[in-house]
Amino acid sequence: MKKISRRNFFNTSLSLGAGAMISRAFSFAQTGNPSSLPVILVAHTNETGIKATEAGWDILSSGGSALDAVEKAANIIELDGEGTSVGYGGIPNEHGVVQLDASIMDGKTYSAGSVGCLENIKTPCSVARIVMERTDHVMLVGKDALEFAKKWGFKEEDLLTEKARKRWLEWKENHSDRDDWGPPEHLKDLQPSDEKDIEYTTGTTNVLAVDKNGDVVGITTTSGLSYKIPGRVGDSPIIGAGLYVDNEVGAAAATGRGEDVIKSCSSFYMVMRMKEGRTPQQACEDAMKLIVDKYKKVNPKFFPGETFRAINKQGEVGICNMRGRRAPSMSVMNVSGYRRHQGTIAFPVE
Ligand code: GLY
Repeated sequence: MKKISRRNFFNTSLSLGAGAMISRAFSFAQTGNPSSLPVILVAHTNETGIKATEAGWDILSSGGSALDAVEKAANIIELDGEGTSVGYGGIPNEHGVVQLDASIMDGKTYSAGSVGCLENIKTPCSVARIVMERTDHVMLVGKDALEFAKKWGFKEEDLLTEKARKRWLEWKENHSDRDDWGPPEHLKDLQPSDEKDIEYTTGTTNVLAVDKNGDVVGITTTSGLSYKIPGRVGDSPIIGAGLYVDNEVGAAAATGRGEDVIKSCSSFYMVMRMKEGRTPQQACEDAMKLIVDKYKKVNPKFFPGETFRAINKQGEVGICNMRGRRAPSMSVMNVSGYRRHQGTIAFPVE
């Protein structure tokens, strides 16, 4: 049996295709921090991420609300069947079923909505928005969330793309030597193995924006941990964990191993740190340290794979990876144009 750690993986999906063409947008200096309003931040930096950032920016720059901007941007990423970590095309759970988590929080009205384990709906963040705006609840899950979505006119569709199905079958054949998936036992050793290391992902996307009125809104949306146990809910739909917004301060959000983000209430913590005067960048780094300090007493070598993003009401942004060799980046757009904003690694690998 091949042993691949699910705990120390790093998020690889977000930086793919980073060299993609920036159409209308132009890059400005890689240093400094854009601090004019309105502003939008999107976790994805691939072609779809850039398209999403531009679409959100179009709304913000024409005087639209942060609420509409973040939904529009997140929908573009959710609907991209090539992406394997958010919405349609996401890697399924252990049983081959795509289960989505998403949340939205609106600073102006201090409202939030979320869905967990939602199946068959391509745009879970839009369902979360309806939970927020049309119910007195914050979170709906599973089959009842699907029924709710259908009542609001969302179309039920198969979310499993060929690409994701093939990845799932590969995982199914390789993840255990105690089941009957894969070639017959007597042929296993005779066949040349093209087995690759199983790649677990918790890609996810975060979209945070401050509009011209200074109102702050955020979305986190994901298909969650690949091959997860059915019913597993990550941090993304949990307000305070995968997302938090305070209209007086700013917003913060997470991607990566949701279990740690839930235990440390990371997004709430980052926003509270900004409230105490820390910059968004410092707040992201503080939240990483909080997690590592906890594990120090249990397993000092354990650095789980998370990336944190934050924005303050002034439009300053921050991003930090837990560990690795390559600094994390994200899409940021304001009146100066598009930029691929680079952050820091909290615990770099030499
Ligand atoms: N952060 C996404 C997840 O753990 O599901």
